[in-house]
Formats: sequence, C-alpha cells, structure tokens
Amino acid sequence: MRRPMRETPLTEGLEYKRGRLRLSGSPLEDAAEKFGTPLYVYSPELMLARLARVKAAFKSLAPLVCYAMKANSSLALCRRLAAAGAGVEVVSGGELSIALKAGFQPRRVIFSGVGKTRVEIRQGLRSRVLLFNVESLGELDAIEAEAARTGVRAGVSIRINPDIDAHTHRHITTGLAENKFGLPVPDSLAAFRRAARSPNLRALGLHVHLGSQIASPVPYAKSARLLAGMISRLESEGHPVKYVDVGGGFGLPYGGPALDLKAVARTAAPLKRKGRTLIVEPGRFLVAECGILLTRIQYVKRTRARTFVVLDAGMNDLIRPALYGARHPLVPVFRRAGPPQRVEFVGPICETSDTFGEGAAVDPAPGDLWAVLLAGAYGFSMASRYNGRPLPAEAVAGGGGWRLARKRETHAELTRLEA
Ligand code: LLP
Repeated sequence: MRRPMRETPLTEGLEYKRGRLRLSGSPLEDAAEKFGTPLYVYSPELMLARLARVKAAFKSLAPLVCYAMKANSSLALCRRLAAAGAGVEVVSGGELSIALKAGFQPRRVIFSGVGKTRVEIRQGLRSRVLLFNVESLGELDAIEAEAARTGVRAGVSIRINPDIDAHTHRHITTGLAENKFGLPVPDSLAAFRRAARSPNLRALGLHVHLGSQIASPVPYAKSARLLAGMISRLESEGHPVKYVDVGGGFGLPYGGPALDLKAVARTAAPLKRKGRTLIVEPGRFLVAECGILLTRIQYVKRTRARTFVVLDAGMNDLIRPALYGARHPLVPVFRRAGPPQRVEFVGPICETSDTFGEGAAVDPAPGDLWAVLLAGAYGFSMASRYNGRPLPAEAVAGGGGWRLARKRETHAELTRLEA
C-alpha cells in the first residue's frame, strides 16, 4: 500500500503568508520574476543565525569556526561570514583567492586538500594562512621545501585518518582506512614529530574530519578519544599541540533525525586546554537551510506509469539527488487547496538520474513556481554546464526584497574560453 501524502514541512525561515512562500520575509515569486529561473536564493540572515547556533552549542570551548567554503563559495555569503568573524577552510588555490577577496583574515584560514600543488602551497605561504592540513608525508616534504624556498615558516596540522565509520553515504565518508584522506595514526605521529624538528615548519595541530551529513555524536566521541590519546603522547614527548580541529560534517535532518550539536560539543570538551584552540569546520550546517533553488514547471507529462513534473532546473544545477540519492523537499511557492497527487519531479537533462524524486503536488501546471529546499549547501558550488546549460543566477534576501548576487550566465559564456 502506498503511504498517504503529507504536506512537506517547511525549513526554518520559510513561511506562507497569504498562501505565498517567503524566505526571511522576502516573497519568492518576486525573486523569480526579477531574475528568472532556475535561480538560487539565499538568506544571509538565516546563515548567520546558524553560525550563532554553532557558537552557542560550543560556547564554553570558544572554538574558531572555520566555514568549509566548498559548501557554497558565493561572495555574498562569504563576506557576511568573514564580517561576523568566522574563519574559513579552503581546499584549493581558487577557494583561497575567494576567501581573501571575501575578507577572511589569513590568520583564520585553514588550507586542506589531499592534492595541493606546489603553486597552491606557495600561494598559501604567501597569504600567511594559519594552518596547512597535511594529508600525506609527500605533502609534508613539499610544504617544507616551499617554506624553505619562500622563507615563510609554515604552520602545519596533521590530518589523521582515524578509521572511524561515520555511518553516512559512502561518497561522503572520509574517515575510514580505505578513504584517501589523512594519515594513519602512526604516520600522523611521525609526521608531527618531523614537523616539530624542522626549522621551516611549525607543528601546530591535529585534524580529523570524519565525513559529511553525520547524524550521531558517537563517531565524534570516538574521534575525540583518539585525538586525546595522540595529544597526550605528543605532549609527553615535549611537543605541544596548539590547535585541535575536530572537522565538520554536522548533519541536517533532511527528513531523518537531527544531530545534537551540544552533544558533539561535549565530546570535544576534554580536548580543550589553556593555550589550545579548538577548531570546527561546518559547511552544510551553516548554509544548506538558508538556500533554495527556485524552478518553474515546464510541462506536466502523464504516462501510464507516472505523472512527471518537468522542471526547468536539473541535475546540472543541483547534482545531489543524482550523486548521493539525496532527497530535497519540494514545495510550491503558491499554496493551492485541493487533493494532492503523487508526481515525480524531474529536470530537463538527458539522463534518467536527473530526478528530484517523488512528491505531492496539487494541480501542477506549466509556469508554476516551486522551491527545492535545503539547497544552499553543495548546490551552486557543484553546478555544471552539462547539456549546454549556463550556470543559474544567485540572489540574496534582505529588507523584504531581493538583490542579485551573481548574474545568470549567457550562451556566449559557454564558449568564451575556447580557442
Ligand atoms: N572539513 C573538511 C576537511 C571537509 O572535507 C568537509 C567536506 C568539511 C569540513 C565540511 O563538511 P560539512 O560540514 O559540509 O558536511 N558534496 C557532498 C558533501 C561533500 C563534503 C566534502 N567535505 C554533499 O553534497 O553532500
């Protein structure tokens, strides 16, 4: 038997007013009319509220919150986070450039990534980033060589591969021995000791990131115990550990249970000491809920098997459903009374995986405006031009209205860089 259809619950900051959906008080239909669809819209206000929530949960530990910029590198959002005093975690020279442009303090920048090039390492050194998260012994050599060459002593933090299962989707788990990330515990200790002996390096920290969309504090607790053991070992050898980075990965409910952030903070409490800074690196938690992908229905196609609602947004705009089987709730911008029917929301891309999944719709019709929720993280930042589709525009809410944050690409831009 099929499940009865229930109305999709709205996320924070979203409400219907006289049947029209608003994000932080700004009517969504106005954004679509002004800038067209598909369109990403964000509420910086909601994002800052999420930052405040992280800070509150970890309050007694006063951590440096380094935003994992890969979730969404829109300058409009990054500038606000930088102005609010957040740090940032970057994974490429490109992200580092964006971070500095957005106004993040170099001393609050952490440079991660398993494949940093020499050019990127030099860029990080010249920018005086706080820490390089070192992911291999080869990378430690490369950082040391570049530090010697440029005369800038590099602050390093060793990324540990703790071999802890975070029980998340296999594409976004990073802390298992079979994953490419971090160094096994013995190698991490050896790398830290080596960095501590080098005149060109400053061995400053340890780092673990277990994965993304983690729903339980248990893996964080395991990781904290491992970190505590490693820290006491290094400190007993006379190597102080000044930074402990417990990573990001704070999961969102997307229909399932919510992660208890305070419980995560409690797992990190034993790692805090005077003279030691705790770092957290949330990406999704800060920006997922503040973002929506706005899209219009192009066609309603009824077949023997299904009713397909064909949208003007597709997997090139939001790849999470196709890549991770993620379910993003869809809600209409204009609420309509009547019995809902079961439909499948699909995009226009020539791939069967270009689907947002099943949902309920009341009298769906071409031109109707719909909102794909929880799209602020890993939405635009993973968008592509597949099928010759220009990247969508982005807008931000404020004062009841909308401001364009990034123009929609044009067809000319699709071939602009070709020789
Ligand atoms: N720190 C490091 C070292 C990371 O690799 C990541 C994410 C984060 C922090 C932030 O994780 P978050 O708090 O956002 O879960 N594209 C996937 C997620 C990939 C995450 C990669 N690393 C998705 O759409 O679910």
